[in-house]
Amino acid sequence: MKTVVRASELNAAIELAKAAGKKVALVPTMGALHQGHLSLIQVAKKHADFVVVSIFVNPLQFGPSEDFDKYPRTLETDSAQLAEAGVDLLFSPTVDVMYPDASESTKSAGHIGNTFEGAVRPGHFDGMLTVVSRLFDLVQPNVAVFGAKDAQQLHLIKTMATRDYPNLEIIEAPTIREVGGLALSSRNRYLDEAAHEVAQQLSAALRAGAAAVHPGGQTNPKQVIEAATAVLAKAPEAKLDYIALVDQDTFEPLENGFSGRALLLIAARVGETRLIDNTEITF
Ligand code: PAF
Repeated sequence: MKTVVRASELNAAIELAKAAGKKVALVPTMGALHQGHLSLIQVAKKHADFVVVSIFVNPLQFGPSEDFDKYPRTLETDSAQLAEAGVDLLFSPTVDVMYPDASESTKSAGHIGNTFEGAVRPGHFDGMLTVVSRLFDLVQPNVAVFGAKDAQQLHLIKTMATRDYPNLEIIEAPTIREVGGLALSSRNRYLDEAAHEVAQQLSAALRAGAAAVHPGGQTNPKQVIEAATAVLAKAPEAKLDYIALVDQDTFEPLENGFSGRALLLIAARVGETRLIDNTEITF
């Protein structure tokens, strides 16, 4: 696996791959890699023959109260894992490479960017879209892979790609879960044994919500939310932020009488750690 830091080195490597007729996939990450990231790479390998992984801890997506400096940086072990996974190119730029022009405008995530995760992390999604679009411009991939676990992020990226990158295919990779159901996340490293146990209740709540749907019948979205909320209420150590149903295509909250594909979202704090998860529900 080759590692590049500068945009010129990246361009040269991508040009070479494309000249050889290869389809290029991009998997953007912030490093601190776990099995969830490695599963994104496996998905990328199925859709392309040249896989680029970026590792960049993006300052623009951290709020003033979020600790950008303390975000885990484990480049050496990450790089070894990527080589082992068969990645072709690691792009690990500096801030200057990613943002050479401080006056360049940032992307706007619009009103959906201010709801749910965006409501507790103001500016987060604008910063996330800005870095993702910069990566798309630099790497010029044919496909890019993102995890379904970060559902709101995925929705916003798909919306941006449809508008600004019509030739780019966005691929959604399924959430990877522990045996107990907990979705893999970089933040799980902050959970001690007791918190880890409590954290499993998030996925249990999602399963209860999904089970409240009557196949082929009329299910009110409220019943789904109530069933999920009842499970989380049994674990008061988990401080619920929201359980919500949104239309999968628009990310707008659902009211009564919905039919189609929806996402059941959950966010809760377990100790100091904020966790999110979601599941797809068809009404
Ligand atoms: O999901 C992440 O790790 C980040 O938000 C992303 C997409 C790599 C952008 O910094």
